[in-house]
Amino acid sequence: MTGEYVPGLEGVPATRSNISFVDGKAGVLEYRGIPIDQLAESSTFLETSFLLIFAHLPIKEELLNYEAEVLSHRRIKYRIRDMIKSFPESGRPMVALQCCIAALGMYYPVNEGTIKEEHTYESTIRLMAKLPTMVATFHQMRLGNDPLTPRDDLGHSANFLYMLTGKEPDPRIARIFEVCLMLHAEHTVNASTFSALVTGSTLADPYTVITSAAGTLSGPLHGGANEEVMAMLREIGTIERVRPYIEDRLSRKQKIMGIGHRVYKVKDPRAIILQNLAVELFDKFGHSRLYDIAVEVERVCEELIGSKGLYPNVDFYSGLVYDKLGIPPDLYTPVFAIARVAGWLAHWHEQLADNRIFRPTQVYTGKHDVEYTPVSLRSYA
Ligand code: ACO
Repeated sequence: MTGEYVPGLEGVPATRSNISFVDGKAGVLEYRGIPIDQLAESSTFLETSFLLIFAHLPIKEELLNYEAEVLSHRRIKYRIRDMIKSFPESGRPMVALQCCIAALGMYYPVNEGTIKEEHTYESTIRLMAKLPTMVATFHQMRLGNDPLTPRDDLGHSANFLYMLTGKEPDPRIARIFEVCLMLHAEHTVNASTFSALVTGSTLADPYTVITSAAGTLSGPLHGGANEEVMAMLREIGTIERVRPYIEDRLSRKQKIMGIGHRVYKVKDPRAIILQNLAVELFDKFGHSRLYDIAVEVERVCEELIGSKGLYPNVDFYSGLVYDKLGIPPDLYTPVFAIARVAGWLAHWHEQLADNRIFRPTQVYTGKHDVEYTPVSLRSYA
């Protein structure tokens, strides 16, 4: 059976899922039915990840047990640290992270094709726990520093910021970062989650599944956009230059980074929460001139391309927040991965429960019955 070709599979359902829900016209995002703003207000990243992966809000004992398990698996093997030490210091952190996640599969092997419940649980805990440590370890080592050992007295977010910067963060900073992780934890079948589903459907081991997803996240049209937003804001430099810059790009049919979304045709609800976090952060810890430029970019874009349903997405304000937290731009996508691993794992669990290998079809546009030409007779046409 061949159907109509839909570029980018826009609007084509790839799975049935009850993990998250997006209404792109109303600007709604729910995790397991709970609106994202309620979770951002009241939950923690680990509780939200439990909700996504295990399909219910944990009771107190479950939550304490899960938090303790993740905490106890934060450390990484010295051989993985040694492997990171041998990476080039100029290497892209997202590539380093992909290598590290894939390497976990050698240290904690799961026989492909025989994935059992205990494997899914153990690998879920390890992936949730170790990604932050691997990102921070690569960052410290490329600076020429010894990596910092995770601190058991710090929560998930505070510990990551500590390992990354060497400083214990202000609790308000840690909370803002925690909310950023929650906002990025899951978003239906986006490109990286689709990669996880496809790789998971072959019954590949979980570390390979998450490696695939991380590779897909790394592209500038997906997880890499917030890095590009910051580069754009720096390039613009002043509020006066915003309009000519936007008009120039649009006239050359170039995209404005952080604007537009395949699903949202209004302002992304995560961008609204992130903007509020940015304002809170700048109020408490000093203003950012780049924030004023971003607000003007949003205003000009709304005026010029808002009618096409193009508004800020999650990446528009996240870079500004990360910048203020002292996170370097090339770590924005790895930070995204530290959060999104929860969603990838949730979809992987769901895929395994009702698995069928992905094998779409194509619309063939090539020739038929072409005669083979020996190399000695070939020439440029
Ligand atoms: N700036 C200007 N115009 C845009 C933008 C933008 N950022 N995004 C889309 N458009 C325009 C296109 O030029 C096109 O216009 P046309 O119909 O006049 O030709 C129309 O809107 C539709 O664009 P598509 O590229 O077909 O939209 P698609 O749904 O395929 O792309 C995407 C969505 C990739 C997010 C796109 O909006 C984009 O590239 N945005 C910038 C990159 C970005 O911010 N990515 C992060 C997304 S969020 C995330 O991944 C976590």
